[in-house]
Amino acid sequence: MDASTSQQSKLVDRFGRTVNYIRLSVTDRCDLRCVYCMPEKMQFVPRSQLLTLEEMESIARSFINLGVDKIRITGGEPLVRRNILQLFNNLGTIENLRDLTLTTNGTQLKKYARALKDAGVTRINISLDTLRADRFRDMTRIGDLQQTLDGIDAAINCNFEQIKINSVVMKNYNHDEMHGLVKFCIDRGIDISFIEEMPLGGNVQHDRAATYCSSDEILEDLQHHYEIVPTTMKTAGPTRYYRLTEHDDTRIGFISPHSHNFCDSCNRVRLTVEGRLLLCLGQEHSMDLRHVVRSHPGDQKVLEQAIIDAMLLKPEGHNFDLNSQTILLRHMNLTGG
Ligand code: GTP
Ligand code: 5AD
Ligand code: SF4
Repeated sequence: MDASTSQQSKLVDRFGRTVNYIRLSVTDRCDLRCVYCMPEKMQFVPRSQLLTLEEMESIARSFINLGVDKIRITGGEPLVRRNILQLFNNLGTIENLRDLTLTTNGTQLKKYARALKDAGVTRINISLDTLRADRFRDMTRIGDLQQTLDGIDAAINCNFEQIKINSVVMKNYNHDEMHGLVKFCIDRGIDISFIEEMPLGGNVQHDRAATYCSSDEILEDLQHHYEIVPTTMKTAGPTRYYRLTEHDDTRIGFISPHSHNFCDSCNRVRLTVEGRLLLCLGQEHSMDLRHVVRSHPGDQKVLEQAIIDAMLLKPEGHNFDLNSQTILLRHMNLTGG
């Protein structure tokens, strides 16, 4: 897995960081309602305001022309967007795209895993926070654990380059299950990342400071069960990977926006479902690319110049504060993490 920064990318921000990775949120809708991601009664974006799949593809092509070689499709749940395979199939044929990846909750993978592999998807990250059906229902509000487990198995059968489980760890929800989740991944020869919850979106039912669980606490707990050593491995994103000395096929990753800030090495930007190019997950600096594609249909040069200009808006980093009352009102499902 080579995730080194592309030399060709023309996208450089004011802090000298090269952007070679775009995350496309293709829908804000989802068939689950995870407690850390959205409120129970989520107000979704009206369909008329969504980018079409063709507009998304056109924006993706502009990024690739500018040297971006990694795309991650996110949501909401990307696989509930109608005709989504069309986007994967089209992006999968673009020669200069080295890494076409997906983040999903797994519920639709039984149906789609084979077609995604055939389309050229290289890696899939699947969210799974617990292996207990009752807790799964509590954390997702409506989910059925078995459906996600079946989806994970379906993906494993298709031999993607990497399958990674993502677990958001919360005190008093699932923090006592980390060992079980690691064992689940070892048994299947796949990777896992533990994520510190980020304060995106208001109206959540839990106290984020009270449920915060640091990556170091999890690591310490796991060290009672396994010999774990740091690695230099990198994928496209902020995960810090560790190796298990007795299990070669499973890496343990940590995504630690609070305890180990990674903004100085940020290489990515995001496109929301409404076509807002967000320069940082934790800030509102953005450019309206929907306006650009709709006012200059088919004009790839104008789009590319807008993207180059947008890099100057990229802020130095987030300032997430779990104790502050001031939070970003944008929910994670608009941006896909
Ligand atoms: P790769 O792109 O392949 O390395 O995967 P990833 O683990 O970064 O992607 P995934 O979609 O699985 O995201 C996992 C978690 O990382 C999510 O909670 C994201 O919100 C978080 N994440 C990814 N990029 C950033 C970032 O730039 N800033 C912050 N704060 N979190 C990020
Ligand atoms: N903080 C951290 N991770 C989150 N995710 C969704 N909401 C949050 C949040 N508030 C995770 C999902 C998925 C990934 C894209 O982001 O579980 O794995
Ligand atoms: Fe859906 Fe993912 Fe948000 Fe859960 S985290 S509600 S699976 S978009």
